[in-house]
Amino acid sequence: MPVDTTNNDRVVITHSNSSAEVYYYGATLTSWKPHGQERIFLSEKAILNGSKAIRGGIPLVFPHFGTIPTSKLPQHGFARNSRWEWLGVAVDNASETTVQFGLKPDVVPENLRSLWPHEFKLVYSVTLAANTLKTTLEIQNTGTESWEFTSLLHTYFKVQEIATVGVVGLTGASFLDKVAGGTHQEDRDRVTVASEVDRVYQGGSAPLTIQGTGVGSGVVLHKENFPDVVVWNPWVDKAKAMGDFGDEEYHHMICVEVGSVSKPVTLGPGETWQGSQTLVGV
Ligand code: BG6
Repeated sequence: MPVDTTNNDRVVITHSNSSAEVYYYGATLTSWKPHGQERIFLSEKAILNGSKAIRGGIPLVFPHFGTIPTSKLPQHGFARNSRWEWLGVAVDNASETTVQFGLKPDVVPENLRSLWPHEFKLVYSVTLAANTLKTTLEIQNTGTESWEFTSLLHTYFKVQEIATVGVVGLTGASFLDKVAGGTHQEDRDRVTVASEVDRVYQGGSAPLTIQGTGVGSGVVLHKENFPDVVVWNPWVDKAKAMGDFGDEEYHHMICVEVGSVSKPVTLGPGETWQGSQTLVGV
């Protein structure tokens, strides 16, 4: 069965000898196994019962990244804290299987919804092919007034040991350093992690490679219409401070998150925006 919907909390997709799993809560993808090998990190302490955003996988960030002074919404918005609707199987053929999830205001918890009272429709498409995972977020303004958003695919990659990991493709990009402060320019060809890292890289459309993950040569990440890339690893102290993350798990993950976050997007009535990432297991 290429798409298994028998669980009431998640959908399991299989295609060739690859699989993926997506929870309705947050439409959070929690597993991607091209050729049977897990590439996505999910914390052993992740809460999967819909009472908290899932720690790991690909949480979806909307309508804003982080916290902003003009909004009382919690960090990263409400998309990751809402149970999305199952829209069904859009494509299922020899080359790919695509499933879709939807989010509208009426399924957002009321306490969050009231903090961002705009009309919208989101459609999240997850496409599984042999060694490829494509995730596409479509955002539509279904109301009569313009609004602004920032958005991001908060992907947690599973790695064997963070000390051997490098992210290639960010050379020359300017970045906001959320740990040390200030804006700088990346001069390394291979971005490595040896302490807490929380950076928002701006611009660029080149593919990125996450190397040294411990499986194959890594993952190649292509992005469309997501100009920014956040690189995050909580390291020792932040790991200990998170209740849903093991103290030593920072060794085994790196977040490389494509987004449209440094400059808000304005959507007029009836307008639609779309961004996607394609991950290739190499
Ligand atoms: C990253 C942010 O995208 O998400 C970090 O840049 C943040 O600042 C991290 O700490 C995790 O956020 P949260 O809300 O899931 O703990």
